[in-house]
Amino acid sequence: MNDLSALPADFVWGAATAAYQIEGAVDEDGRAPSIWDTFSHTPGKVAGGDTGDVACDHYHRWPEDLELMKALGLDAYRFSVAWPRILPEGSGAVNAAGLAFYDRLVDALLEAGITPNATLYHWDLPQAQQDRGGWPERETAERFGEYAAVVAGALGDRVKDWATLNEPLCSAWIGHLEGTMAPGWTDLTAAVRASYHLHVGHGLAVRALRAAHGDLRIGIVNNLSPCEPATGGEADVAAARRADGHTNRWWLDPIHGRGYPQDMVELYGVDLPVRDGDLEAIAAPLDWLGLNYYFRQVVADDPAGPAPYARAVRLPGVRRTAMDWEIHAAGLEKLLVRLTEEYGARRIMVTENGSAFDDVVGEDGRVDDPERVGYLEEHLAACARAAARGVPLAGYFAWSLLDNFEWAYGYDKRFGLVHVDYRTQRRTVKSSGRRYAELAAAHRRRVRPAA
Ligand code: IFM
Repeated sequence: MNDLSALPADFVWGAATAAYQIEGAVDEDGRAPSIWDTFSHTPGKVAGGDTGDVACDHYHRWPEDLELMKALGLDAYRFSVAWPRILPEGSGAVNAAGLAFYDRLVDALLEAGITPNATLYHWDLPQAQQDRGGWPERETAERFGEYAAVVAGALGDRVKDWATLNEPLCSAWIGHLEGTMAPGWTDLTAAVRASYHLHVGHGLAVRALRAAHGDLRIGIVNNLSPCEPATGGEADVAAARRADGHTNRWWLDPIHGRGYPQDMVELYGVDLPVRDGDLEAIAAPLDWLGLNYYFRQVVADDPAGPAPYARAVRLPGVRRTAMDWEIHAAGLEKLLVRLTEEYGARRIMVTENGSAFDDVVGEDGRVDDPERVGYLEEHLAACARAAARGVPLAGYFAWSLLDNFEWAYGYDKRFGLVHVDYRTQRRTVKSSGRRYAELAAAHRRRVRPAA
């Protein structure tokens, strides 16, 4: 049994999802297409030709999903708001029916004693906004700030925990440089400009959220990885430093008022379209930092490859998930300590952590997923070790509440604590879901014995 006793008494036990991955109902109640509708409907972009058209049908089945959250004993639920439901054209007329969906969800969560934690952007840019240039253009950052004001105005009286962006690295680097996520570009200049405008948008959204309600707790969610050299050789050590710049420092330094790392600015060789006041807005004080952790990177020098000229090395003999990602819980502890010691974090939430495995429903109707149970236990133990080392860790959100649309991998990769049969939409709590509920309950009993 892993020792979780160092987790704080008020530790938040949560689970996370994202709009396009679960909602479905893509053309209902005034929602317009997002870049992920376009991308997933483009032949060859998503495994099996899967799309988010129906997904987990959460848009209709959310009351059942709320019952699952209650059964798991969640303290909090992290979800994202779909921009194309709220402002179908990206800007302009507000779609009241879209807002009403989140309004109902939030009321029901609060009624159930589950704290809502809302993310404004989890990759579903309205296609109309993409058609006006998308994230490489400043206009998108400005429209994002306006969208933030609309959502905060409608929900900020009840939702107090907000994240602006989820994993801007993926939007910029995977969406615009590697091309395997929407909008599917492979253009370094566009990618660097997108990264910058995502940050400007974040700053404008923080401002809009603060203006809407003075009592909101605002953060940003980054996916980070420790980057280690494959060998002790000078070239690989330098490659690991570049990978760290690309994966971690580019996303952390500017929001901490340190500007963009000079070595990476030089490496990319792309002029940042900085305007007066931008860097200050990007570094607006935050109440918490969100960390999404999945794997570490072990890299070797790759001078002929794409920026940052560091090639991932596949270590032999390590345990892996169905995503082929190494299971390395020590990396989570390392990042939590780094955010605290190097960036002075005062409140951190692990906003995503989880694993895909090839789950099957047994003849008895159960889904036994011992590998995911082990993964959860190891990573929660890493959280507890970090807390024991002084990390101000406030909570953990398992990725994910439900199996869902895993982007370019389609429905094949299952991350849920709850299994979804996509043919029938039947939900089945996996062993890992039950284990997570037990760990949360045991923690509550330990810290509040009389409760
Ligand atoms: O499913 C994704 C999620 O949308 C963002 N973080 C990583 C998860 C697993 O790949």
